[in-house]
Amino acid sequence: MFITCCNRFNFMLYTLFLAAIITSASKKSVPIPASSFAKSDNPLRQPFSLHNWTLQLPIGVGSDFETVRNPLLSEPGYGNDFFHLNKPGNAYVFHTPVLPENGVSSENSAFTRTELREMNHTNNKLEASWDTVKGVHYMKVTQSINSISSSTEGKLINFQIHSDCCAVLTVRLFSKPETGVLLFADFDKFANGSLTKIIGADKYPLIENYVLGTIFDLEVVVDNGLVYVYLNGVLKSPKEGYRSNLLAVYFKAGSYSQNVPSATIPATAVNEVSIYKMELYHGDGPYTPPTPSNPTIDSDY
Ligand SMILES: *[C@@H]1O[C@H](CO)[C@@H](O)[C@H](O)[C@H]1NC(C)=O
Ligand SMILES: *[C@@H]1O[C@H](CO)[C@@H](O)[C@H](O)[C@H]1NC(C)=O
Ligand SMILES: *[C@@H]1O[C@H](CO)[C@@H](O)[C@H](O)[C@H]1NC(C)=O
Repeated sequence: MFITCCNRFNFMLYTLFLAAIITSASKKSVPIPASSFAKSDNPLRQPFSLHNWTLQLPIGVGSDFETVRNPLLSEPGYGNDFFHLNKPGNAYVFHTPVLPENGVSSENSAFTRTELREMNHTNNKLEASWDTVKGVHYMKVTQSINSISSSTEGKLINFQIHSDCCAVLTVRLFSKPETGVLLFADFDKFANGSLTKIIGADKYPLIENYVLGTIFDLEVVVDNGLVYVYLNGVLKSPKEGYRSNLLAVYFKAGSYSQNVPSATIPATAVNEVSIYKMELYHGDGPYTPPTPSNPTIDSDY
């Protein structure tokens, strides 16, 4: 069952290995621009703890993006051009140009991201890694999507459960004539460890006609192999749960662009997400299912 997945994974590793040999001679770090934003009224506020996370930035060399780790990430006032507080200081803003000046090149890694990656909660130097089949795993993100790179071709990912090879679940915003501005949950073709579905077949609308800037609660529960997605406390994925048996997965949240500059998307186009709150739980459960919510937060992003 795992063969399809892992052959693909081995192939990816091999490709990465070759790429590493080719690029290692020229590997160097890119300076992270300090925030030109610096307009928060409360520059030292911390809307939520970043202790359990690392931050991936849309800059770097080749496909090797810059990562900001703790303790730096948790220092009050830490920020840069791509990650900073909003004006009131009640959200972190994830600002992702499709091609920043020092951008991760579109040759190697097509898409830019400003994204948090879950780390181990008892030792945040280690990457978090858990199995969807065992235990209860819960994450709640209160967020808004402020900007999408194109109103007719825009695509971004604002939440993921991922492993090294496959995604369990991605939450995406599409802005296209066929879909309108649609926020939806997409279970990956490898979500249960084997190639079981046509790509994009298992989509569940979360918000239709999304108005940019609207704040919503996204809650994801993984309960012993069954995945549930809630929007503002209302279940949007199958009632019986979406079956997943992927190993060594982790949560991600932020702004992961799915567009590259083109004839119709300028290099200055931006994907931007604000995150107001994040909650995480890993344990044996049982858990209390989310209840309807209506996040009202004073914000101008
Ligand atoms: C963190 O590491 C501990 C010890 O290795 C492990 O038991 C636990 O499952 C890990 N937690 C996560 C979320 O990765
Ligand atoms: C994986 O999903 C496919 C298609 O939905 C289903 O037929 C199969 O039983 C699932 N496998 C597991 C292990 O859940
Ligand atoms: C890290 O996550 C765990 C949940 O597994 C939580 O109990 C803990 O408070 C978090 N740490 C911080 C500093 O937020």
